[in-house]
Amino acid sequence: MAIDSKLPGVGTTIFTVMSKLAADSGAINLSQGYPDFDGPARLLERVTHYLNGGFNQYAPMAGVLALREQIARKVARLYGCRADAETEVTVTAGATEAIFCAITALVRPGDEVIVFDPVYDSYEPAITLAGGVARHIPLRSPTYRPDWDRVAAAINNRTRLIVFNSPHNPTGSVWLAEDMSALAEVLGDRPIYLVADEVYEHIVFDDERHESVLRYPDLYRRALVVSSFGKTYHVTGWKIGYCVAPAALTTELRKVHQFVTFVANTPVQMGLADYMAACPEYVDGLPAFYQRKRDLFLNLLRGSRFVGTPSAGTYFQMLDYSELSNERDVDLTRRLTVEHGIAAIPVSVFYATPPELRVVRFCFAKDDDTLARAAEILCRL
Ligand SMILES: Cc1ncc(COP(=O)(O)O)c(C=O)c1O
Repeated sequence: MAIDSKLPGVGTTIFTVMSKLAADSGAINLSQGYPDFDGPARLLERVTHYLNGGFNQYAPMAGVLALREQIARKVARLYGCRADAETEVTVTAGATEAIFCAITALVRPGDEVIVFDPVYDSYEPAITLAGGVARHIPLRSPTYRPDWDRVAAAINNRTRLIVFNSPHNPTGSVWLAEDMSALAEVLGDRPIYLVADEVYEHIVFDDERHESVLRYPDLYRRALVVSSFGKTYHVTGWKIGYCVAPAALTTELRKVHQFVTFVANTPVQMGLADYMAACPEYVDGLPAFYQRKRDLFLNLLRGSRFVGTPSAGTYFQMLDYSELSNERDVDLTRRLTVEHGIAAIPVSVFYATPPELRVVRFCFAKDDDTLARAAEILCRL
């Protein structure tokens, strides 16, 4: 029977496509955003402890309270946000679930939602399924931060929500304090909500600080702030994240969450709660950990025909290849994978209307040895 698809324009995500092509070609995979090293041994030990200790049934719908308390402690310590663990913190099956539930809870048929291109690909399908319309505003190259005049011009009385991501995948850009003020200014008293995708909150470089929405009470009162334990603790396969939002918004989020997954898995939540309590300072070491990898990767590529400004955050590095080829990024990444054994992500696929760009995204969350082997190939091109 023919299906009248609700998402006719949606295919398989580029991450799945490139990772499969990398696996089929035996290529080094610098495409999809996950580390090729493991999470902290003590965290793995705590999760194993609960898995073997019989903690294998449903957790409370909003998440294990001990973990929600640790999240509340963390956001208080880092951002000065006094979120209530009972009413403002929800544990989800990855940031993806939190984003989907937040958009589903807020967007009504006909609502407009502002997103910034290049845009992480999970937002628009959720907006479309809720009956909303995404308004795409391109980030301004080469800094890849918003053009606030364009944002102000795009806002109208159908605008319900702005979804944004900083530190930003795929560009590695980071919003500054001036962006947060500009955001507050364009919002004014309008009834517009925010979904802040902050999954790379702990990966900001060069001594800059992460401008979390949680630092700004005037923004937080209208926001759902999303993060990912997968990104922070090198355990993306666990699919565990959370959302911090004022109580009224959290109530709406949970109405959806309880019927999408109901809960995230129990032993991982218990293990994370223990680990966060024992090692709260773990996150403070992440910028240096990933900055060293960023610098190593860029140094190894000196003399190659790939050039780029060092990422300000995330574990991605965008590189311009126009000295190497005039091909479209989709064609180049396919050829690099199949013919040269190295996979990257084309950036044009994250645009509603792709500009003339000759850049690809590499993930440097890899062992030094993997980065060295990858750079050797890239330098030969
Ligand atoms: C910007 C962004 N948001 C959300 C996610 C999803 O995070 P999770 O794996 O916790 O669902 C990712 C993962 O790559 C991401 O890059």
